[in-house]
Order: sequence, then structure tokens, then C-alpha cells
Amino acid sequence: MPVITTSELSPGAMKWRVVDRERVLIANVEGVFYALRDACGHRQALLSKGTLEGYVIECPLHFATFDVRTGKLLSGPVADDVPTYSVQVKDDTVYVKRAPSR
Ligand code: FES
Repeated sequence: MPVITTSELSPGAMKWRVVDRERVLIANVEGVFYALRDACGHRQALLSKGTLEGYVIECPLHFATFDVRTGKLLSGPVADDVPTYSVQVKDDTVYVKRAPSR
């Protein structure tokens, strides 16, 4: 489903949208768009309220870090990676679909 237009999200920025009744974080890193569940697996903090530095998202609550490309946990008090969504860009619209493997 269409979630955002490319002009709404500049490089280095992230925003959240609702997909299938879940909050999904959309990030733009150097013109490539990524989508992750907008919840840290530790205490469910909203990752979209954290920071994005390069490919690293930092949780705003206890500072766990995740790779925005894969959802992989890099460091912090969390056991799980963050689920990712598949992303497609057509013309100026970003589409998000739940990744089939999750
Ligand atoms: S809620 Fe994210 S590290 Fe605790």
C-alpha cells in the first residue's frame, strides 16, 4: 500500500505511518527507503522518536541500536531484531508490504 511520497521524507529522516493497523517507521537513507515496525522489542518504545545516523537507528528509551536496512539488533538490552517490511518506490510514491518471511 502507498504510505508516503518521496518528497515528504528527506534523506536522513524518518516518519511513521499505519500499515495493516500497525505503526511502521519509514526511513530514507541517501535516497533509499526502508520500513520497520515502529516499536523496540525491549519496552515497545517508538523507534521513530529515536535518532537515525547513517544506517543506525537508536531507540529513544534505553538506546538499543538497530540496522535500518535489516532490522538487526546491533547493541542494547533487547533480545530480538525489529521486523522489516518490503518497500517499493514507484514514481514518487513509497509502497510498503509486509515482508513474506516475517
Ligand atoms: S525500549 Fe528500546 S532499548 Fe528499551
